[in-house]
Amino acid sequence: MVQAQAWVLTQHFHGFPTDSDFELRVEQLPEPRDGEVLLEAVFLSVDPYMRPVSRVQMKEGDVMMGAQVAKVIRSSSPALPVGRHVVGRCGWRTHTVCDATDLIPIMEDWPEEVSLSLALGAVGMPGLTALYGLEEVLGLQAGETLLVNAAAGAVGSVVGQIAKIKGCRVVGSAGSDAKVAFLRELGFDRTLNYKTVASLDQALREAAPDGYDCYFENVGGPFSSVALQQMKDFGRVAVCGGISLYNDTAPQTGPYPHLTMIFKQLKMEGFMVTRWEHKHPESLKRLMAWVKEGKLQCREHITEGFANMPAAFIGMLQGENIGKAIIKV
Ligand SMILES: NC(=O)c1ccc[n+]([C@@H]2O[C@H](COP(=O)([O-])OP(=O)(O)OC[C@H]3O[C@@H](n4cnc5c(N)ncnc54)[C@H](OP(=O)(O)O)[C@@H]3O)[C@@H](O)[C@H]2O)c1
Repeated sequence: MVQAQAWVLTQHFHGFPTDSDFELRVEQLPEPRDGEVLLEAVFLSVDPYMRPVSRVQMKEGDVMMGAQVAKVIRSSSPALPVGRHVVGRCGWRTHTVCDATDLIPIMEDWPEEVSLSLALGAVGMPGLTALYGLEEVLGLQAGETLLVNAAAGAVGSVVGQIAKIKGCRVVGSAGSDAKVAFLRELGFDRTLNYKTVASLDQALREAAPDGYDCYFENVGGPFSSVALQQMKDFGRVAVCGGISLYNDTAPQTGPYPHLTMIFKQLKMEGFMVTRWEHKHPESLKRLMAWVKEGKLQCREHITEGFANMPAAFIGMLQGENIGKAIIKV
């Protein structure tokens, strides 16, 4: 028998998550049956989607949702022998017994010098989100000017770097001077700290006096209202996230985007990374190739210890992370 620790959502979040919304539980796990494996978590992910999606997909008392990189430590599946690493949507657990077919094996030729934690970041869901938002939704073309916010985060930092690889001019917004310095290291053309600029409108205008062809939206709310005004006619907007809205207890109201969209004839499309699941294996190879060539730099904000998962989640929502927020068990 193996004992697992698991973080349970004791009550649905109201406003900003707090420590008292979580409880650490100990579970006894059965031996894996035919076709099943026993996993031990190595790296776990905390992501913004957990805040809004938990309310829709989880009940109070459920183990928190989420992905992890785990090692197979017992196996009753020939497909996944002991020692293989996988990505699994196992939730916030140290150990899991599950069907081998529910897991995604880490690619066989994963380079030894690349941390497996990147399978939760630039060579995982956030990297894929960046790639699809740029290619499938925006159809970004060389020479265009792109705006991205939450730019120093898991998705945003990859968005900006891929846009540079594609020969674009990139403007990034983030919430601290250290984050803005990181964006400059990554090769962003213009950067701004949206928390300290005297006028966001003026800062965005100075960064791209002719306006923006494309806008990769991670934040929503008041930032969006200002940014849409700066789009070129026929500009394209990929709505990836709206993190400034996730902790609201009452819905924010306007200004509403309709008149701007009409007068500028904008195209705005929301998307979820899962739409292009059929492309994931090929896309992950492309992301890994950029990592190996040094074209895609991957910074991580690592929290040590499974016990600190709620703190890491709350910290990420408060903007503590530069790069991908990861928990190392
Ligand atoms: N559509 C999809 O399939 C999909 C997939 C993955 C992620 N997403 C979305 O993409 C966005 C980024 O996700 P991520 O995983 O890369 O997270 P992340 O950027 O690594 O971390 C979240 C960041 O959001 C920023 N933030 C928090 N509250 C904010 C506020 N009120 N206003 C402005 N910025 C705020 C903080 O950075 P600052 O210090 O810069 O404020 C924080 O570091 C999220 O909206 C997420 O929901 C969507």
